[in-house]
Amino acid sequence: MTVRVGVIGAGNIGTSHARDLAHRVAGSAVSVIYDFDQARAAELAEELGARPAVSYEELIAAVDVDAVVIASPDQFHAEQALACLAAGKPTLCEKPLAPVESDARAVLDAEVALGRRLIMMGFMRRFDPGYRELKDTFGPDGIGDPLIVRNSHRNEVAPYGLDSALSITNAAIHEIDITRWLVDDEYEWVEVVPGRSGPITPEGQRDPLFLLLRTRTGVIVDIEMFVQSQIGYEVTCHVTGGLGNASMADGRYVTIAKARQQGHDLPELWLGRFQDAYRLQLQGWVTYLVAGGPMPGASTWDGYVGAIVANAAVDSLRTEARVPITLPERPALYA
Ligand SMILES: NC(=O)c1ccc[n+]([C@@H]2O[C@H](COP(=O)([O-])OP(=O)(O)OC[C@H]3O[C@@H](n4cnc5c(N)ncnc54)[C@H](O)[C@@H]3O)[C@@H](O)[C@H]2O)c1
Repeated sequence: MTVRVGVIGAGNIGTSHARDLAHRVAGSAVSVIYDFDQARAAELAEELGARPAVSYEELIAAVDVDAVVIASPDQFHAEQALACLAAGKPTLCEKPLAPVESDARAVLDAEVALGRRLIMMGFMRRFDPGYRELKDTFGPDGIGDPLIVRNSHRNEVAPYGLDSALSITNAAIHEIDITRWLVDDEYEWVEVVPGRSGPITPEGQRDPLFLLLRTRTGVIVDIEMFVQSQIGYEVTCHVTGGLGNASMADGRYVTIAKARQQGHDLPELWLGRFQDAYRLQLQGWVTYLVAGGPMPGASTWDGYVGAIVANAAVDSLRTEARVPITLPERPALYA
């Protein structure tokens, strides 16, 4: 069986997902593409032997679309995910589920009312070999239980224009999710500490930002977000455990020493760093759609928790106060 996928949004990541689904993932094909920019949809559709749609509603309803990838800008994810749920189509929804908590909640409620899990969230770091290796170091034979998780997330320049709230709801949400997954715990509070601005931070924006969080069992988590760092795309995660430390520098395992310098190249964008994670996530999703079994990636619940924590962090950024995080009871659908 071939899963025929409709892709909504043919920008940076939608194009990458569509090419992976067409060429590098076993068991899938791309049948329909929609983008607000119709010329862009037509061009990608032609490249992949798919056809363009004139609206996302047309794409979702198409009989030759078995499953949908949502890769439009953040603010459209919730309404498009609701339409996929209404049509009963399995969906891989790019992060975030929604920038606004109430929109994320509406999607969660709709899926719970449906009683079936149709949405997998594109928190692809859960499929990244680097983070998986890091998680494998936890436990009595490795570094023990995690006590402190220190993340950094740096972009060369802000990908969607710098807006400090966006650097939390769009970017830090990756660390918010992956750390929950790593330590298997929920957050209790978050505090955002804006500091001195970097040299190219626009007036009125705060960058870098430092997020401090603590989980219910007391794991201390920090996230350095620096979206105008001018360094390149660099993601690191260091874990202090009860018996040792583990460090995922930036997922590149070869360090070169030459001409009195030591280091490695950094990619310009996330597509360079997380290429394998995107492909492995799509392969995991397609295999699950064909063979069944437990959903291999993040759920709508995970997307909703991400929205709650990110919104609390944005509140903290505004008020410069620690913000408690309270979650509603997890619906049985996501047990
Ligand atoms: N998981 C990841 O690591 C990762 C990486 C990059 C982007 N993303 C997410 O993917 C989404 C897209 O990001 P991008 O970098 O590809 O952005 P982009 O700006 O490159 O592409 C967005 C595309 O969506 C189109 N579009 C605009 N409004 C639309 C609508 N209402 N319906 C359909 N298409 C519409 C635009 O014309 C554009 O082609 C964002 O939500 C972003 O958070 C996730």
